Amino acid sequence: MTITIFVPRDAAALALGADRVATAIAREIETRGIDARIVRNGSRGMHWLEPLVEVRTERGRIAYGPVKPSDVPSLFEAGFLQGADHPLCRGRTKEIPFLARQTRLTFARCGVTDPLSLEDYRHYQGMKGLEKAVTMQPTDIIQQVTDSGLRGRGGAGFPTGIKWKTVLEAPGAQKYIVCNADEGDSGTFADRMIMEGDPFVLIEGMAIAGLATGATKGFIYTRSEYPHAIETMIAAVEIARKAGILGPSVLGSGKAFDMEVRVGAGAYVCGEETALLNSLEGKRGIVRAKPPLPALQGFLGRPTVVNNVISLASVPVIMDRGAEFYRDFGMGRSRGTIPIQIAGNTRHGGLFETAFGLTLGEIVDDIGGGTASGRPVRAVQVGGPLGAYFPRALFDTPFDYESFAAKDGLIGHAGITVFDDTVDMLKQARFAMEFCAVESCGKCTPCRIGSTRGVETADKIAQGIEPQKNRELLADLCNTMKFGSLCALGGFTPYPVLSAMTHFPEDFSPAPIAEAAE
Ligand SMILES: Cc1cc2nc3c(=O)[nH]c(=O)nc-3n(C[C@H](O)[C@H](O)[C@H](O)COP(=O)(O)O)c2cc1C
Ligand code: SF4
Repeated sequence: MTITIFVPRDAAALALGADRVATAIAREIETRGIDARIVRNGSRGMHWLEPLVEVRTERGRIAYGPVKPSDVPSLFEAGFLQGADHPLCRGRTKEIPFLARQTRLTFARCGVTDPLSLEDYRHYQGMKGLEKAVTMQPTDIIQQVTDSGLRGRGGAGFPTGIKWKTVLEAPGAQKYIVCNADEGDSGTFADRMIMEGDPFVLIEGMAIAGLATGATKGFIYTRSEYPHAIETMIAAVEIARKAGILGPSVLGSGKAFDMEVRVGAGAYVCGEETALLNSLEGKRGIVRAKPPLPALQGFLGRPTVVNNVISLASVPVIMDRGAEFYRDFGMGRSRGTIPIQIAGNTRHGGLFETAFGLTLGEIVDDIGGGTASGRPVRAVQVGGPLGAYFPRALFDTPFDYESFAAKDGLIGHAGITVFDDTVDMLKQARFAMEFCAVESCGKCTPCRIGSTRGVETADKIAQGIEPQKNRELLADLCNTMKFGSLCALGGFTPYPVLSAMTHFPEDFSPAPIAEAAE
């Protein structure tokens, strides 16, 4: 029987040499005359083990990693094709604690299947949600999504069902589904992983959104820095079209839905939904004033759903297993699961999908395993570059929208960046202001000018120039940006700055210049 070997094609695995490992394995197979095939799967999301090679055996899939090309001959010698022991052997993949502790609903197939095999997709429960949706009325689909409690995973946490209902009820002959795959937040990679590892789940989710709202055309807007995701998505859309999943009659239902992939140049602000729509229309990526909401006047002025990749990719499992099944996971008003992305100075970086409600400390210490440097964790930034810094004292905060908001933070796209005790929080605050200055679309003054003044003020504090006065000035500036900015780029930049000042005041009190000179 042909042996199946899995070598990921995910960008993170490729960056760590997965292609060279696949070539080395192919060479060994040929020289040894073995009946084996290599499947290029997505990533399981355990970055410290990449490239993670798996072999399908009678005992299930056995994992080896991180594999270097030079390890390959010894793997064959040891009998890894039969799942034999080797220093790199991690045992049965699904028993690796990092994976075993997860609840994989949205990422159920990621790393398991061949991303471009529809046969694989269907074999692992794929397309069941869309099969149900084509038989349902739009209002019933929307009710199910609403009842599931699904909230936007792009950052704002807006209820997905309500957004869809607005688009369904908006007058207009042509409506659109726009998938926000810009994924600009630092330390996040969930959108990329799903597009590279399970593209059909996004296509299925978008098609369901189309049926639910009456939209017949969809766009996936992503960035040029994601070449592998772009390639995979374009290929998957083509396959889906040929199979009758997309096109004039979705799964033979007589209802039309088609989509295409559009690539932006990669500006952080183009992830903001209205700037994204401008960019999609070929205009400069600048934020539009709201109202009108994109749901009423979005792409080309027509009713448009703008949803994050993970929001849309979570819909198929909701339609397949039912709203109750999904909403049973989670806590409070944060229902279902969330793919947490652990990055920065962490021992076990990667993607961990779990029900809302784990504490930040459990995620950072138990799952992430502390820092890669081995030094104590000092701060964790949650929610990308606009997210607050959390000190250890707040590690008992449960990971859900409301608990984080109550601590002046946000979960955003669920990226967590870990820092050890060598971090300088004044520098981090300055960096937040600098990031905002660089990425600002320039439309409003508090953000465009305020961020630059913020950098200058942080520099003055660092130089010991009137520190008390400049600390007050920085806090005041943050207040102006928070309440005076048109969008969340200027409006949320104060979060990392103020949290750094509040929780790490000692870093904002360098020796005054006069004392330092003596
Ligand atoms: C500066 C800025 C950048 C953003 N970047 C992204 C992004 O990369 N991806 C994303 O899905 N949402 C991003 N958002 C949020 C979107 O504006 C919007 O809320 C989201 O796409 C809606 O989808 P959801 O309801 O499924 O989360 C960003 C918002 C701001 C203000
Ligand atoms: S806050 Fe910044 S990014 Fe947002 S509209 Fe104003 S200038 Fe543009």
